[in-house]
Amino acid sequence: MSNPIRVGVLVSGRGRGTNLQAIIDACERGETAAQVSVVISTNPEAGAVERARRHGIEALIVDPQQFASQENYERELTRLLHERRVDLVCLAGYMRKLSPLFIGAFRNRILNIHPALLPAFGGQGMYGHHVHEAVLESGAKFSGVTVHLVDEEYDHGPIVLQTVVPVHDDDTPDTLAARVLEQEHKLYPQAIRLFAEKRLKVEGRRVKIVEEP
Ligand code: GRF
Repeated sequence: MSNPIRVGVLVSGRGRGTNLQAIIDACERGETAAQVSVVISTNPEAGAVERARRHGIEALIVDPQQFASQENYERELTRLLHERRVDLVCLAGYMRKLSPLFIGAFRNRILNIHPALLPAFGGQGMYGHHVHEAVLESGAKFSGVTVHLVDEEYDHGPIVLQTVVPVHDDDTPDTLAARVLEQEHKLYPQAIRLFAEKRLKVEGRRVKIVEEP
């Protein structure tokens, strides 16, 4: 594999890290021309930290509360990612809003995964179980997974890839979450592969997938 791109993964809170794991596994299997260069977590207890270290990947803890302002915190994140020559930032269970400062430093180079079909069931407060509960309450017959570029608003940037997941009559938030998560683990590595192959062309709000870069 020639020159794999360098990926930095951000996680926050408890961050169990199953998406991180799927990305690492896809890279190790050689399916994605990428390598995870660093994982940055707000919390030392996050499962993602342990998973990274098990694979010999650098895992850093950067606690926003140790900084005088959000701006200082994000400056540090930016510095650490630049220092490691990261080409692509992947949010994987990173629940904090990123400011224009950070987004500007990695414009169109930040991906997020959301456990529903955006633009429905997204936005502030729509994370974890809240998403699946809202889908079930709405009566929707389908949910899914969205990988999108990150912009200044929650769950709003241009959509890169989506997978549809059926909602079953007897679903609970847990059973739906599990079916969706299975698809997340396939879709995130796929999006990273397309990015690495320079096959994503952003045109306004639309991301076209081209055959050749
Ligand atoms: C996933 O459901 C993802 O869609 C959302 O946060 C969750 C992270 O799960 N953004 P994990 O830590 O990757 O297992």
